[in-house]
Formats: sequence, C-alpha cells, structure tokens
Amino acid sequence: MCRLAGILLLLVSLFSFFNNSFVHGDNRKHNKAPYTEEERMAEYVRQGYQFPFDTYYPETPGFREIMDQRFAQIRSLTDTQMKWDGWIQTVNAAVSTPNFTEYGWGLSQAPDLLTLDIRQAIYEGLPRARSEGGVDVIDGPVNPLFIDRPDLNARAMRELQPILESWAGIELVPAQAYGFRLYRNESSLWMHTDRTQTHVISCIYHIASSDDSEPWPIVIEDYEGNTQMAYLEPGDLLLYESAKNFHGRPTKFDGSWYTSLFVHFYPKGDWQHENHDTKAHYAIPPDWAKVIPNDVVPKLEVIGTSMMNPLCDDHWCNLKTAKKVFGPGQYNTVLTSNGQISSLHLDGATDDEEL
Ligand SMILES: [Fe+2]
Repeated sequence: MCRLAGILLLLVSLFSFFNNSFVHGDNRKHNKAPYTEEERMAEYVRQGYQFPFDTYYPETPGFREIMDQRFAQIRSLTDTQMKWDGWIQTVNAAVSTPNFTEYGWGLSQAPDLLTLDIRQAIYEGLPRARSEGGVDVIDGPVNPLFIDRPDLNARAMRELQPILESWAGIELVPAQAYGFRLYRNESSLWMHTDRTQTHVISCIYHIASSDDSEPWPIVIEDYEGNTQMAYLEPGDLLLYESAKNFHGRPTKFDGSWYTSLFVHFYPKGDWQHENHDTKAHYAIPPDWAKVIPNDVVPKLEVIGTSMMNPLCDDHWCNLKTAKKVFGPGQYNTVLTSNGQISSLHLDGATDDEEL
C-alpha cells in the first residue's frame, strides 16, 4: 500500500505538488516535491503522527466534528488529485497550523478616513478597471475586474496592522494586500483556506458595491464548528485566521460589482523560516490514497485549493444551519461567535479602564 501511495504521490507531484490555485494573491505554482514518499513517511513516524489525529488546533468538540467530517469526505474521494489537495487543506486547517484566537474570526471596522479615501479611489477607478483574468476558485460567467492602487494597498496594510495584532495577540509581519478585486454578477467563491506560509492573520476589508447589489455574505467556519454568514457593510473588516478557517462566498452574487481588499500577515519571529507546506505534508497518513466509501457525509469535490458540495443548495451543505451576522462592525471592537464582543484596546486602555 505504501509503495502504491508513493507512486501515486509522485504522479500527483509531477502534475502539481503544491496546490496550484490562485485564490487571492496565493500563487503556489511550479513547486516540486522536496522529498520522496519514503522520506515523507519517515517524518510522519518521527513526528509521532497517527490517523485519526490525536490533537486538533484548537481542540474543541465542534471543530473536531466538522474536521472529522471533512476527513471522511476526503477519504471517500476517488480522484487522486482531489484527494491529495483535500488532505493538504484539511490537515493545514485542523492539525499542522496553530490557532491564535478563540473562535478564528471576528467582525470589526477600519478607520473611517481610510475607508472614505479608498471608496473615492474605487469610484474614480471604475471606468478604467481591468480584468483580473480567470481565478480558478471563482465560479461565474465573467471574470472579476481589478483596480490597481498599490499606494492605498500599502496604506491599508499599515493602518490595519495594529487592529490585526491586537485581535491575534501577537506581533505580525505584513505579507500582502491583494486588491482591489471587483466580483461581478453571478460570481461565487468556493470554500477554501489560504496559504499557511504567509496568509495566517488576515482580513477581508469590504469597500463598496454597486447600487444594484443584493447583500452577499462571506461564509466562514469557526472553531466551535459553526458556519457563520457575515454580511459586511462598507468599511467592515472580517478578521480571520485564513489558513485555518474555511471561508468563501458560495452563494451567487446578485449585482453589478462588489469590491474588497484582502490583507494578509504572518507571525513575527521564526514563522517565515519554517516550511509550512512540508509541515502539513508530513502529517498526511501513509494510506492517504485509500478510498473509504462513506454514504453518511455529503459528497465533496475539491477544486485545486478549494472545496464544494455539488449536491447541496449553493454548493455548501452547512449553509442550511449557518448563523447570520450583520455589519456594520464597530471600530476598536470585535464581534465574534455567540455574540461575544471584546475591545481591541487601540486607544491603549485596558478593560478595567473602560468599565
Ligand atoms: Fe481566502
């Protein structure tokens, strides 16, 4: 079995060892496997992994339930490429990447002046917006548009960093501010996680949408195993641990355009010196290619770095039981699971002083 898995892994790696989708500034093309299957297995054993996994990060009943279901879905897949890509995403989310917050997501708001300036730039840039090109995790009849304003990307990254550092409780290194993408009518974004190497503590910064837009939720799974549907207002920030919390916009957008900026940071310190791709690969069990049919869990398809349930409404079964949260968020606070609200202390005050 191990030999067969090794051959399969080699074939998969020749095709695309690392996931090769371009989600939002997350290009993983042209990487080759840096080890043989035998070496990978030796690391699996040396690091003490076993499947089912001993520990998820975080270890909560709800997160374990939803990740267990995903592993069962992946084990039932028959397509080898889908299977390998599914293992990578789910191992990253559940096992090989630590969490930094209690629930993995939160709703906040950017400084008003930043939002005002960016909104003005978006409306001015609309007539000259270029096509972003095809993005393989975005489904829809037309490609997104794109407005290039690197000056505002850099400013947003600078001004939002204290918000994300306060939320995550760690110092961060700026990785990327990707935008401004304008989704177009009937677009949807498959559920996915981002690249662990650089997209760890992130935010989706909603800027504006056309007057004819219907509300369009960002969907995110939290660490209690809930699926949250967040309806953002202009200026809202959806803070999230983007390498761990599956997120997307599986419902179809109804409107002319909808624009956001994606801002990504990673932890300061040793983080950048570790290879987080191989770290996940070492945790994938030797029999990863085995097909274990399962009629209980909803059917899953893996599309590069993303996932969907082809037989459910809006291609994501857990929307049926999703919790809804509505913006606007509030500057200097974070609203998260169970309606919990906390201060970001951006003014330097402590909770005691604010009582
Ligand atoms: Fe993403």
